[in-house]
Amino acid sequence: MPGSILIAGAGGQVGHELATADSPHQLIALPRSQLDISDSSQLGAVIDKHSPDIVINAAAYTQVDRAEEDRDNAFTINRDGVANLARACEQAGIPLLHISTDYVFSGDETGAYREDDEIAPRSVYGASKAAGEVELRLALERHINLRTSWVFSATGGNFVKTMLRLGNERDELGIIDDQHGCPTSARSIAGVLLSIADSYLRGDDIEWGTYHFCSQPETTWCGFAREIFRLADGYQNLRIRAIPTSEYPTPAARPMNSVLDCGKLKASFGYSQPGWVDELRLVLEELRIFG
Ligand SMILES: NC(=O)c1ccc[n+]([C@@H]2O[C@H](COP(=O)([O-])OP(=O)(O)OC[C@H]3O[C@@H](n4cnc5c(N)ncnc54)[C@H](OP(=O)(O)O)[C@@H]3O)[C@@H](O)[C@H]2O)c1
Repeated sequence: MPGSILIAGAGGQVGHELATADSPHQLIALPRSQLDISDSSQLGAVIDKHSPDIVINAAAYTQVDRAEEDRDNAFTINRDGVANLARACEQAGIPLLHISTDYVFSGDETGAYREDDEIAPRSVYGASKAAGEVELRLALERHINLRTSWVFSATGGNFVKTMLRLGNERDELGIIDDQHGCPTSARSIAGVLLSIADSYLRGDDIEWGTYHFCSQPETTWCGFAREIFRLADGYQNLRIRAIPTSEYPTPAARPMNSVLDCGKLKASFGYSQPGWVDELRLVLEELRIFG
């Protein structure tokens, strides 16, 4: 029997993919203008009005470097907003599927991070997302906290679109080659969340808690950039130079390794990691048509 899924943050990369996905369920997709998760006075009324069976939160403060100077805003959205949403879901007796980040980890470990590995964010953004995870667990038992990484899509701002722009402007690009992680398409993340929501709405028993999901294989930003320019048309003459993080200082420190182990998601939900090169091909195709 079809149910209804309320999507917060429907204007973002993952939010857009959720809002435009094929689903047997009613998708109530609300951008920030219709649902501000940091406004606790609004939340209960919005949830009462739509009376969804489950909520997916794709809303977040995601400007990693800007957050270093904008701590209050990052925490108001990524910690307090999540707390508000989780409490409103608890009040309504419905579950919440939430997205978190690989940047909750320090990146000092080698190998892929598992869900119960220690978190130790290096940035304000990472700390605000980690605080949101704590609030989620405190307020609501029936939640999914899906950590993902290096999100890209044909909409919104992301590394793929930045590379294509810079590749048009310059003859040579120096790209960081010592930060390791996994690019992941927003569409695949939306697919995982909708499939968990569907499973819940069909009455399956859900193992609530924290899960990791990213695409494969692991690479570096430079490896990702090389693949972008190999697959996109018109960049044959562009030179890519591999550089260390020290040559490209940013306000926010990033983990040197944020590869996520996705074994728990596979064991609990049967969801395998997609290949990001195939996802990238699709996104580049969409950009050619719509971009
Ligand atoms: N992007 C990445 O590389 C990455 C990596 C790992 C994890 N994640 C996580 O994945 C999730 C989705 O990321 P994304 O890349 O889709 O982000 P995004 O494109 O930046 O979208 C976030 C959306 O949230 C909205 N928003 C901000 N504050 C809000 C508020 N108070 N109430 C309601 N909506 C609000 C934004 O609206 P405005 O634009 O109007 O502010 C935007 O539409 C986030 O939880 C993020 O932390 C992202």
